[in-house]
Amino acid sequence: MNLGRYLIKKSVARIQNEAKQSTLKRTLGKWNLLSLGIGCIIGAGIFVLTGTASANHAGPAIILSFVLAGTACAFAGLCYAEMASVLPVSGSAYTYAYATLGEVFAWIMGWLLILEYGLASATVSVGWSGYIVSFLKDFGVMIPPEFTKAPGQLVQLADGSTVEAILNLPAMIGIFLVTSLLVIGVSESAKVNNIIVAIKVTVIVAFIAIGVFYVNPDNWVPFIPEQTGPGEFGFDGVLRAASIIFFAYIGFESISTAAAEAKDPQKDMPFGILGALIVCTVLYMMVSLVLTGVTHYSTLNVADPMAVAVDAIGLGWFSFIIKVGAITGLSSVMLVLVYGQTRIFYTMSRDGLLPAMFSKVHPKFRTPYVNTILVGIVVAFAGGLTPINVLGDLVSLGTLSAFTIVCLSVLYLRRKEPDLERPFKVPFSPVVPLLGVLCCGYLIAQMPLEIFITLKWFFLIGVVVYLVYGQFNSRLARGLDPREGDEEFVTEEHEVRTE
Ligand code: ALA
Repeated sequence: MNLGRYLIKKSVARIQNEAKQSTLKRTLGKWNLLSLGIGCIIGAGIFVLTGTASANHAGPAIILSFVLAGTACAFAGLCYAEMASVLPVSGSAYTYAYATLGEVFAWIMGWLLILEYGLASATVSVGWSGYIVSFLKDFGVMIPPEFTKAPGQLVQLADGSTVEAILNLPAMIGIFLVTSLLVIGVSESAKVNNIIVAIKVTVIVAFIAIGVFYVNPDNWVPFIPEQTGPGEFGFDGVLRAASIIFFAYIGFESISTAAAEAKDPQKDMPFGILGALIVCTVLYMMVSLVLTGVTHYSTLNVADPMAVAVDAIGLGWFSFIIKVGAITGLSSVMLVLVYGQTRIFYTMSRDGLLPAMFSKVHPKFRTPYVNTILVGIVVAFAGGLTPINVLGDLVSLGTLSAFTIVCLSVLYLRRKEPDLERPFKVPFSPVVPLLGVLCCGYLIAQMPLEIFITLKWFFLIGVVVYLVYGQFNSRLARGLDPREGDEEFVTEEHEVRTE
């Protein structure tokens, strides 16, 4: 058996050549890229998970968790920036792994990206559902409580009694709407993205600016509540919360998928990635400080913590604005994540690692419709049937593993191809990539055991799919070019997005 066959690599030259043949328009400047990143980053992490993570794990010290998770992302972000400047192509981490570590790692990366994109969109849909239910309730529209959470979760009724949920219907409807838009080809345009980012950031800045006047410093005492169990408060809890709210940073690397459309990817990629990370870290730290300052952290274990916090200080009108901002913002994150997932499957299908139907393009809409519909169905069920904390942990675990592989890819490529032109270089290599690997590994170690068991099954399914299908159909291994004939889809899709 020829094991080397599994480590077959796409040469950097081949990838750069594929990129040169691309007919995509280079229309995205550095501010567009920054906005693209912020648009994908700010979502359910800050609007939902901050509340549960501080109520159950870190208390007011959630701000430290944001610093820890942000630091891990900064190390990984620098590595992404170097890879994106060397390989400014779509496909992101999957393509980087194909070029550096070999096919089987590329496959693993592609499979992990299902967690990072597909399952992340399911997570965001659950957050979106929480804000929609609360928003409609303000207008007297009650969705039957049994249909607002994952099966088996308890929903509290107005009279204080509880019922067991059957299905999270709004989450499924959210994904259904996003999928329909993607099938007919309404991908997000840079202009629409800029408007949504402006709404999101304005709402968050307003929350900080107004909330700061209502802070009661007593709520910050004790800053790190005493530990009550493993991962529950104390410094252990701060670390556990860091692994949860790591989710809030996911998305900065999506900028790298736009490398082929950037005007000056070498300079603008690092600017977009690191700039978006810095802006979001600052906003997150300030939000968490205000959130736990205006109300006691123990009241934040709810689906819409920011709205609950402003309600608690008697600003009902502002809670309405926060809900509108969250619903708008989370919709765009769902759209970008489902879109990202379909693009990754599309790239893998063109490489022969997934069946051709994943790159089949609709004759009229010019979109990969079979792929999009399949992704939509699976994501909708994941969102409808799974609680947000389980989904969030799985996404964080998958993404942390993917980040680790990207940091390793930088190290590998530096050794293997030292003379390659690197318009952006990670400073202090190999220290920074190694710190990236260590930080991500440390956050992975904070995850509960059950999540690893779920991941193991997910991983095994991936291995079987590769062994049964991918290894025999890989176009690189068979000496063939990527599947042809679908370029038009790529062009159309991106033109819509960058108009
Ligand atoms: N970072 C994104 C969010 O928080 C995925 O929703």
